[in-house]
Amino acid sequence: MPITRREYLRRAGLLAAGFMSPQHGHQQHLARPVLDPAKLSPFVDPLPIPAVARPSGTRPSPADPAIQIPYYRLAMRQIDSQIHRDLKPTRCWGIGSSSPGPTLETRKGQGMLVEWANELPGAHFLPIDHRLHGAESDKPGGRAIIHLHGGKVPPESDGYPEDWYAPGKSAVYHYPNNQEAALLWYHDHTMGINRLNIFAGLLGLYIVRDPAEESLNLPRGKYEVPLVFYDRSFDPDGQLNYPVSPVPAEPWVPEFFGNAVLVNGKLLPYLEVEARKYRFRILNAANGRFIHLSLSGGQEFHQIGTDQGLLPAPVTLRQLSLAPGERADVIVEFSGQAGATITVNNDSLRPVMQLRVARATAGDTSALPAALRPIRRMAETEAVKTRSLMLGEIDDLRGDSFTMLLNNTPWHAAVTENPVLNSVEIWNLMNVTDDAHPIHLHLVRFQILDRRRFNTFAYQNRDLVQYTGGATPPEPCEAGWKDTVRADPGMVTRIIIPFEGYAGRYVWHCHILEHEDNEMMRPYDVIAR
Ligand code: C2O
Ligand code: CU
Ligand code: CU
Repeated sequence: MPITRREYLRRAGLLAAGFMSPQHGHQQHLARPVLDPAKLSPFVDPLPIPAVARPSGTRPSPADPAIQIPYYRLAMRQIDSQIHRDLKPTRCWGIGSSSPGPTLETRKGQGMLVEWANELPGAHFLPIDHRLHGAESDKPGGRAIIHLHGGKVPPESDGYPEDWYAPGKSAVYHYPNNQEAALLWYHDHTMGINRLNIFAGLLGLYIVRDPAEESLNLPRGKYEVPLVFYDRSFDPDGQLNYPVSPVPAEPWVPEFFGNAVLVNGKLLPYLEVEARKYRFRILNAANGRFIHLSLSGGQEFHQIGTDQGLLPAPVTLRQLSLAPGERADVIVEFSGQAGATITVNNDSLRPVMQLRVARATAGDTSALPAALRPIRRMAETEAVKTRSLMLGEIDDLRGDSFTMLLNNTPWHAAVTENPVLNSVEIWNLMNVTDDAHPIHLHLVRFQILDRRRFNTFAYQNRDLVQYTGGATPPEPCEAGWKDTVRADPGMVTRIIIPFEGYAGRYVWHCHILEHEDNEMMRPYDVIAR
């Protein structure tokens, strides 16, 4: 019997929260019980900081064989992870021996090679939906492929979703790092099961540094702390619990929301800080959850960077909002607060982490500069082409589910977005759905022009663009270079994109992983001229 999308979401929400069975009396649909993190002792585990990866040697650069560049080998493996002191170890998929995996650190212009080795088991432990494109049952369960999110990477090293490989195989990728200092991240991108592989733990950070940033004297070393946020749900014995739909052969759910928000892979950790300035490099790596972080006591902090590096100037905030895939670079001043205990809260007031402020061990010589990096606002007149791209959804033929699409076009249809290398385009993301979709383009960085409410009915039915409000410029904290943008419901979000770097096949997609896995992703070609 067909159900509405809202009803489907409601059921999925209940499933995710584990409160009830979606269909009373149908035992095969009973959701597994879910661990309630509020019952655990908070702040008993120190915040883990992912180790910085070490190269195993050097190899000739694919760009210039006369130059030797660092060579890393990182293996995807099934591991046991201690999420909380009082839980049994959780089976995860990690990189090396952790999830998030080790952080890759590099400098602008310093290329590197990474061998991503697939040492995963042959079977998946999460519910694959074999109806989804690319997730057919004849494919090996432990397949994977890694993409560097935010990296300006040649197409053959970008981690194209259909280029996944099986356990026992590996791929060597070349990251030239010809880009400005920024916090990037790597994660799985396997067609049709990407949401499950990332949920299992295949992700980590990647930091690019450059002299311009170093000259700013920002807090560094142990005073620069990465924070990776994502939500999960767990069985009462601490094992990952990914929800399923009410239809056993079609387990895909439209969004995942867990009741446990982890920081660097720990549930409710604490961090000891000194009474001085800190720099936090923040990533929202959740499947579908938008995070809204604040400090107890309403303490202000300063956002200095976004997805693709530094903002022109710091932006003072009391709440930081990040959609899945987005990053923020933040300075927090703890001086004068020795002895204080501060909680980091998500959404209204749910604590996710505790900060314990100790006396500073030395004077704080780091700075919060008033000017960070000049960013030239791009002019609309630079664009040679404007594309209007609809973010929509359709009911599946069976009528009991639905699919979200980019411009009404499924993944396997011929390429429709084909910008010319070194040209500038404006993309109008026309969101006719009820949800915000974080839209990400591989290879490039872009600027947000504005967001504007429009008549979605007229657009869908009569192909008319009727604005029903004025244009809103990007928020100050979004006014830098981005690679992921929140396309709000009922709005046209306009972005201006210089297509620079390489010609070849890339992808663009919604970064809500459940959407991405169910057709809300399209290939695009950068054409050499
Ligand atoms: Cu975070 Cu296609 O990527
Ligand atoms: Cu990406
Ligand atoms: Cu989406």
